[in-house]
Amino acid sequence: MTSEELFKNLIAHAKEYGFIFPSSEIYDGLSAVYDYGQMGVELKNNIKNYWWNAMVRQHDNIVGIDSAIFMHPRIWEASGHVGAFNDPLIDNRDSKKRYRADVLLEEHIAKIEDKITKEVEKGRKKFGGAFDEAQFRATHPNVLRNAAKAAEIRENMNAALNANDLDVLKQLIIDCEIVCPVSGSRNWTDVRQFNLMFSTQLGSVSDEAGVIYLRPETAQGIFVNFLNVQKTGRMKIPFGIAQIGKAFRNEIVARQFIFRMREFEQMEMQFFVRPGEEMKWYEYWKNERLRWHQSLGLGNEKYRFHDHEKLAHYANAAADIEFNFPFGFKELEGIHSRTDFDLSRHQEFSGRKQQYFDSETNENYVPYVIETSIGLDRTFLAVLSAAYCEEQLANGEERVVLRIPPVLAPVKLAVLPLVKKDGLPEKAREILQTLRSDFNCQYDEKDSIGKRYRRQDAIGTPFCITIDHQTLEDNRVTIRYRDTMQQDRLPVAEVAVAVGSFQ
Ligand code: GAP
Repeated sequence: MTSEELFKNLIAHAKEYGFIFPSSEIYDGLSAVYDYGQMGVELKNNIKNYWWNAMVRQHDNIVGIDSAIFMHPRIWEASGHVGAFNDPLIDNRDSKKRYRADVLLEEHIAKIEDKITKEVEKGRKKFGGAFDEAQFRATHPNVLRNAAKAAEIRENMNAALNANDLDVLKQLIIDCEIVCPVSGSRNWTDVRQFNLMFSTQLGSVSDEAGVIYLRPETAQGIFVNFLNVQKTGRMKIPFGIAQIGKAFRNEIVARQFIFRMREFEQMEMQFFVRPGEEMKWYEYWKNERLRWHQSLGLGNEKYRFHDHEKLAHYANAAADIEFNFPFGFKELEGIHSRTDFDLSRHQEFSGRKQQYFDSETNENYVPYVIETSIGLDRTFLAVLSAAYCEEQLANGEERVVLRIPPVLAPVKLAVLPLVKKDGLPEKAREILQTLRSDFNCQYDEKDSIGKRYRRQDAIGTPFCITIDHQTLEDNRVTIRYRDTMQQDRLPVAEVAVAVGSFQ
């Protein structure tokens, strides 16, 4: 099965089992907007808690806030979003379809890189055990030619983006002979900048003065509360402020399921440091954040760093943690050294000092900031895609199992009476009652035990316990483990410990 087919199955599975529904589905949906169902919201909440616990609860010097989505419109002028939060757009005149110019070029580069991968695979088949991939990549003429081509296009694209030279960007699309995937033509308009912020109206006045924006990042809510938190929390530098919340972007290219949405959630932390110490902390947070991802156990090989060549207007260093999604390595989290840009701009635009008095150095200064910014929905997709598994069993049967890390699983424990009679449902409910305040549990008595196990596998429940006639005698149950499907017999009193130890 190709990874494309597997991804389609995953999307269908996410809907069938109540993880993710297309938004407004009975009205034919709303592009790039999704709703989380009964299982999805549990998984999402567990991811939020896992992040909050690691970032806020485990650090003496990091606290959390929850700022409003609506903020004063001047904030977005100060942050640079009104002027510079743009994507370069290009239209195809024949299909009337709109694309991001940089994405068209990225996809073109990806096709060239695909050719390289295919060439390497051909070499591997031909030379078998004696194949030396590094040497092959360094010497094979087709690989070298394509690698040079891809590097040149990327370099030219980054230079054009950095210089905001939209004519060069268009020329690159023409030179690469990129065609519209819908019309197949090269009849392109000029490239234009398009602001990604959604605007709306505050109050009843429908003039320019009433225009406000839906926040495109949660970070600014932290910056404008920097002094509130620092003073009321008596925080000493270095310290951090964390926040989880919705962000909105009018994305032009909104594809790949919940990877790029118009309404999404971010988990961000701004870490305020002494000027001059930002690179030390930048490296620190890069490593810390990678460790956090790896702690989920989805596979260390699924992550890699990508250092930015094109820096955002506010950053002096930036890197992405990329995840190997079913459609390749893509950004999951950004770590940015934002300098004193944001606080200085708010100081300038608001006329209020945004300074910190450092009692150790006896100095007043605007702190520098290291930001960690992770997409909640992208983390959800990373977890789901790493967990989704279509498995052939030894007895010839198939099962679809979500190997979600137990700490994140929507349902931790299923309580299943073997049959619907003989006092087993009553015993099962009695046991359920003792466990449900510690774990999210599900009770199920319908269908055969095999079918019930499959249903729990499909939503990623790591543990099932079965209550049978013997349970009434000895107060012991059968516990079944999702990943190995192994079963053990243990006293009811030990179930909580067994489930808890995997969390
Ligand atoms: N405050 C910095 C900031 O917002 P960003 O790289 O634009 O930086 C941070 O976004 C993270 O938010 C990304 O790494 C990604 O996980 C998530 N994200 C950004 N745009 C998104 C979208 N349209 N849909 C889903 N997640 C998105």
